[in-house]
Amino acid sequence: MPKLIRPPGPRWVIPGKNLFAFQRDTLKFMLDLARIYGDISYFKMGGQKVYFINHPNLIRDVLITHHDAYIKGRVLQRAKRLLGEGLLTSENPTHRRQRRLVQPAFHRARIAGYGEVMVEYAARFGARWHDGMQIDAAREMNRLTLAIVGKTLFGANTEAEADEVGTALSNLLGMFGYLMLPFSEALENLPLPAARRFRQARAQLDTVIYRIINERRASGEDAGDLLSMLLLAQDEEAGADNGDDAARDKKRDNRMSDVQIRDEALTLFLAGHETTANWLAFAWYMLATNTEAEAHLHEELDRVLDGRLPMPADVPSLVYTEMFLSEVLRVRPPAYAVGRLSIKETALGEYIVPPGTLVIMSQYVMHHDARYYDEPDTFRPERWAGDARDNRPQFAYFPFGGGARRCIGDGFAWTEAILILATLAARWRMRVAPDFTPELQPRITLRPKHGIPVTLYARR
Ligand code: HEM
Repeated sequence: MPKLIRPPGPRWVIPGKNLFAFQRDTLKFMLDLARIYGDISYFKMGGQKVYFINHPNLIRDVLITHHDAYIKGRVLQRAKRLLGEGLLTSENPTHRRQRRLVQPAFHRARIAGYGEVMVEYAARFGARWHDGMQIDAAREMNRLTLAIVGKTLFGANTEAEADEVGTALSNLLGMFGYLMLPFSEALENLPLPAARRFRQARAQLDTVIYRIINERRASGEDAGDLLSMLLLAQDEEAGADNGDDAARDKKRDNRMSDVQIRDEALTLFLAGHETTANWLAFAWYMLATNTEAEAHLHEELDRVLDGRLPMPADVPSLVYTEMFLSEVLRVRPPAYAVGRLSIKETALGEYIVPPGTLVIMSQYVMHHDARYYDEPDTFRPERWAGDARDNRPQFAYFPFGGGARRCIGDGFAWTEAILILATLAARWRMRVAPDFTPELQPRITLRPKHGIPVTLYARR
């Protein structure tokens, strides 16, 4: 029977202490909560009641069983000023309809088509590298995944246009710190320089995107990219065209408006590159520092590819590459925590969550839990051999979230990470300075604070 009392947790007389500790070292704060208080804890952060949960069954309760008792947390509410009512930020019933409309763009057959772009771009980036060159692998992976998402989204338009969107978006992202400030919603309409710059950058981005949408609507063709899919998507559940005017009007309603297309395109652009880039950046670091895993990966790439570039059809044969990347996602999950705000009283394990409570669950903490991973701090791709994944509870590993809000781009991200790594690691080895360990910076995504500075060595 659920209890009305609060779970245990840190209580300080000094106001703001939890908020300070959370902001100073988020990962340590969450790991400490799990270590000291166990599967569920309670604390207040800047006036907000928070439950922190740390058990696969509790996570399943929030993301699946009682998902309709929650909405997205504050960070994503704030992101609405950039992303509008796109998939990441919208709530039902909008979310349900939008998910139905966007889903076909991520069908397996479509992703295979994007796979060719992924290999082409990775090879193009690799062609600019030379033996002994020093690069920041994190920055390079960011540029690569940004170029790929630009091409797969707006591919049929010129590269200059995809670049234009990328540049306008980068300007805006430079202000993400401002965007995510508490109370920045209220600041936005004030005549402050930062608020003005934000509005200008957003207007610039919108101008480019609406121009592309208009041109594409006018041409009416399926250009094979994500934007075409969004423009052509129709909501079957909203009625079919049987010839009369009313039905035709309804059919028009079945499509997304320009504003919805803009919101979804921007959401995919934003959600679709930094996460994968950080995953790959940490993958390069792990390869550089785990010579046994590196040798294993090279053996597989040489055997399967035999010197040629990979193709999307190679993905199922790259078994070790997938195990290796699974382990990178375990130890360095780019989405390191997700939050939900309760909108009604609901049960959670032995407790009751009152409305207005923020529930936080952390991939980073769960993926380092010794109950599910022996020697959790050791990097060991062999953990993922055979059916190992099926022997763990579902939410002991949830790099892509779960339930109705699970990442829509997981198949895209997997194909991209495998094909990029296969293309580049078959030809290049990276080495870091002996004393280098990446400092983790948990911002919007988990990233290496000072990048991954490496020296490149040609394998052949
Ligand atoms: C390593 C790569 C990625 C990781 C770790 C990741 C992680 C996640 C997670 C954890 C969520 C759920 C957030 C929540 O429950 O609040 C999510 C949602 C989402 N992701 Fe990803 N993602 C990745 C790549 C991508 C890519 C490549 C795309 C698109 C091309 C994408 C698009 C989205 C969208 C649109 C949502 C919102 C889905 C919805 O609510 O219906 N992601 N992602």
